[in-house]
Amino acid sequence: MTMDIGKLDDEARNILRGNDRGGYTLPTAGLYPYQWNWDSAFAARGFAAFDAPRAWVELETLFSGQWPNGMVPHILFHKPDPGYFPGPDVWGADLGPIASSGISQPPVAASAARAMLEADPAAGRDRAAGLFPKLLAWHRWFMDWRLDRGAVCITHPWEAGRDNAPDWDGAMAAIDPVGVGEYTRRDTSHVNPEMRPTKDDYDRYIWLVQRGRRLGWDEARMLEYTPFRVADPTMTFILLRAQRDLRAIGQALGEDTAEIDGWIATLEAGAETLSNARLGAFDARDARTGEFADCVSSASFLCWYAGLEAPEMLAVYDRVTAACRYPVPSHDPDSAKFNPRRYWRGPTWGILNMMIGQGLAEQGHEARAEALRRVTADLIAEHGFAEYFDPVTGAPAGGKAFTWTAAVWLTWARPSAEAV
Ligand code: GLC
Repeated sequence: MTMDIGKLDDEARNILRGNDRGGYTLPTAGLYPYQWNWDSAFAARGFAAFDAPRAWVELETLFSGQWPNGMVPHILFHKPDPGYFPGPDVWGADLGPIASSGISQPPVAASAARAMLEADPAAGRDRAAGLFPKLLAWHRWFMDWRLDRGAVCITHPWEAGRDNAPDWDGAMAAIDPVGVGEYTRRDTSHVNPEMRPTKDDYDRYIWLVQRGRRLGWDEARMLEYTPFRVADPTMTFILLRAQRDLRAIGQALGEDTAEIDGWIATLEAGAETLSNARLGAFDARDARTGEFADCVSSASFLCWYAGLEAPEMLAVYDRVTAACRYPVPSHDPDSAKFNPRRYWRGPTWGILNMMIGQGLAEQGHEARAEALRRVTADLIAEHGFAEYFDPVTGAPAGGKAFTWTAAVWLTWARPSAEAV
């Protein structure tokens, strides 16, 4: 199809501006009425394509919610919105300067900051210098509290950003959500319930929130008592990447980066513990039982983004991407659990494609990277700026006018002048 790039650029910029609430950007109005952590870092990348000062503000607002222990919450509840559940009253997480959730999300902010700094070193220097100690404190929080054999663990499926991925099924099944009580979901009043997590999952999500709340969101107590602790490829690969980017920022600023070097070595070793030989791929590993999830997910392919060579993953990637017209599916299409519509159990997500494509290109797999960029551009051009897409038909799913899909278009997917 012919693509009207100028029109799509305008639409993407309008989505970012339309979701801008002054200093922070909603993922999409209605379904997600607050500031989400990794969405915001992707939004910053999107703004950077046309309004660099606004891009820095996005990250600064995110860090204005940082907890004293370094944690940066996955949601900042800047202004109450009754259309969202679970809100601040359910989380009961009052350890930070802004009402928030009690868990974090994949740390992509340092990578956004590095890209922004390198795009304009003179204008970005002070902004990056302001963020550097905050990024360092957040990264240190992961290293202090979340490692299992060097891989990064999540304490709630929402922390991975891949809420209902089959990766967590085993660990979730071990939870009996006794006493969770009555509650009313809001997500299913905004979008088709078939595209969202099931009630069984949701009961456990809420039960885990209630438990974290009872433990006062104290990492030491949660480490001792949490029934859910899974070493996750999303967190591990993204943090490894983010550490390299933070080191580059530190070097540009003339900071001492020895501590970050140590973190990188630890995470490189930790990443290897996610290699499931039986599956022949990187996988999630339950830190409590030692069991692998036996899931090839789109996060498995973040190995290259993490800076690893991982040549053995190329054949897996080729098999998975050949199995559907609009890759990368969030779960293996050859698995019985694959569902092309249900959220993180099959659909394709633009942000994952962007990180996978970036990693492929950096590791020298240019043709694969370009094919993925092109298919992502087609998806957006044909089906709009949806939250995610059916990997078989390309049908848009979830929320519309989505911030991160607009950002993916502006920063990576849109054809450059030469490629048209
Ligand atoms: C969903 C996604 C998560 C995202 C959030 C806001 O919970 O799974 O990754 O950050 O929505 O878009």
